[in-house]
This record gives sequence, C-alpha cells and structure tokens, in this order.
Amino acid sequence: MSETTETSPDNDRGPVPPAEVVLISGASRGLGLAIATDAAERGVNVAAFARTVSAEMKELADDHPGRVHLGAVDITDTTATQAFVREVESRFGVVDALVNNAAIGQDSLHVHTSQERIAEILETNLTAPLLLARLVVRRMLGRGVRGRILNVTSICGQRGFPGLVAYSAAKGGMDAATRSLARELGGRVLVNAVAPGFFASEMSAVLGSTQLDAIRRRTPSGQMTTPADVLPVVRMLLWEQTNINGETVVVDGGGSI
Ligand SMILES: NC(=O)c1ccc[n+]([C@@H]2O[C@H](COP(=O)([O-])OP(=O)(O)OC[C@H]3O[C@@H](n4cnc5c(N)ncnc54)[C@H](OP(=O)(O)O)[C@@H]3O)[C@@H](O)[C@H]2O)c1
Repeated sequence: MSETTETSPDNDRGPVPPAEVVLISGASRGLGLAIATDAAERGVNVAAFARTVSAEMKELADDHPGRVHLGAVDITDTTATQAFVREVESRFGVVDALVNNAAIGQDSLHVHTSQERIAEILETNLTAPLLLARLVVRRMLGRGVRGRILNVTSICGQRGFPGLVAYSAAKGGMDAATRSLARELGGRVLVNAVAPGFFASEMSAVLGSTQLDAIRRRTPSGQMTTPADVLPVVRMLLWEQTNINGETVVVDGGGSI
C-alpha cells in the first residue's frame, strides 16, 4: 500500500467515544448472542443479524423494548447487508461499532475439502466481513462519526490445527486486515480483533471428546474458553478508553503459548 493513501493521524482528535449503536453479525446463538445480550444489558442500541432470527434473539428484543433491531440477513448478500445497515441507521442513527462475528466452521482435511467449500468458507469468514467493515466505516467517515470495529477471529489464525486450513486462512486474513485497517484509519476508528480459543458451540460441536481433552490438557489454565471469558475483552474494546488499536487479543487460557 502506498503511504500516501494512509490517513494521517491527528493527535488533537482525542479518544474514540464509547460505542452507542452496535451492529453484531451472527448473533443468533453462541458468542454472537452472548455479545448482543451483554451489549443490550449495557443499555446501548443493538442491531443483530444472522441468516435465521432465533428464538433467543426474539427474546432479547422483547427483554429490551425499542433497543434491539433484528434481521434475517446472510452476510454474503451485500444487497441485504446494505439494506439492513440503512434500516438500523434510520432507527438508531449511525452504526458506530461493528462486531464481525458471523462465521462458518470447517471439519475436513484440506485434501478432502472441495473447491466450493473452500470458496464458501473464505467468502463467509473473510470477504463478507471485509465488505461489511468497509460499508460501516464508509458511513462512519461520511458522517464524521468515530467508532470501533471488532473482528472475532480465532487462535487458528495464529496456530495450526488439522481440519481447519481454509478456516485458519480466513481468520489469519482477518487478523492481518485488522492491523492494516487500523493503520489506514489513523485513529478515527479503532480496529481490533479478539481471538478466542475453542469454546463449546454449534461450530465446535464437531470436535470429539478426545480432541477436547487434548485441548484442555494443553491449556495452562486447565479451563476451556467460554463465551463469558471473551466478553470482558469485547467490553474493553467497544467501550473503554484504552488506545489499543490494530491488535488481536487472544483469550485461550494460554493454550497457544
Ligand atoms: N466455537 C469456537 O470454538 C470458536 C473458537 C474461536 C473463534 N470462534 C469464532 O467465534 C465466532 C462465533 O462462533 P460460535 O462458535 O459462536 O459459532 P456458532 O454458534 O456456529 O454461531 C455462528 C453465528 O454466525 C451466524 N452465521 C453463519 N453464517 C452466516 C451467514 N452467512 N450470514 C449471517 N450469519 C451467519 C450463525 O447464524 P445462522 O446460521 O442463522 O446464519 C450464528 O449466529 C466465529 O467468528 C468463530 O469463528 C469460535
């Protein structure tokens, strides 16, 4: 990238304010639902989508009347994501935080993974989150709003795991994009990632008890990660004044050290 296209930092700009309108992808279950619930309980406006609006999402909206906007949106459908972001803006104002959480998993050795499946994993877990970040950042910058992008990546972006080659490529790509986008945005928008270790969810349900035991044995804390372990980092990166920018924060009990 040419240095001339980099946004120059303005040291008089001051800290990025805490997020007020948070858009969370993949919020129908698992970590995304936990993040959406935590954000709604904090009292901010939450926009949450997944391909299917789950009963838990509806319950969240019922529990926080007027503050949770739901959508059945496929992140790979750019027309639908744009329409959703416009809907959210007309209801809550400009989105000033994006949590790029939606992703699909993988459970196949690279030699056995079809070209179509590799393309699907890369589109869902890398291309679509980059396009969503571009959309949200353009709208923030266009309105002079400062904000935060938080990419949910994985220790697989940093360490090797069999059966997760395309998935790891996408997560490592998001970690790399996090650093470069943070540089481009020059502090107007803080861009960070959180990289959890394996935690129980629909995505990791493919892991057998032998693999889970091995992960636990390799983890110095002796504890598997849980979504609740990830929430303090999410809160810090969305709401605290920290000057953390362009970083990937690993939450895995030390399993990857
Ligand atoms: N579980 C782990 O061990 C682990 C470890 C490290 C990192 N992570 C990361 O943590 C994040 C959450 O994972 P999780 O374990 O909570 O997964 P999960 O339970 O499978 O949830 C994934 C979420 O993404 C949504 N989603 C999937 N494809 C989508 C699409 N095309 N468009 C819109 N939404 C889509 C799903 O809803 P629909 O199916 O209804 O669309 C669901 O809400 C992911 O980024 C994952 O890579 C997970």
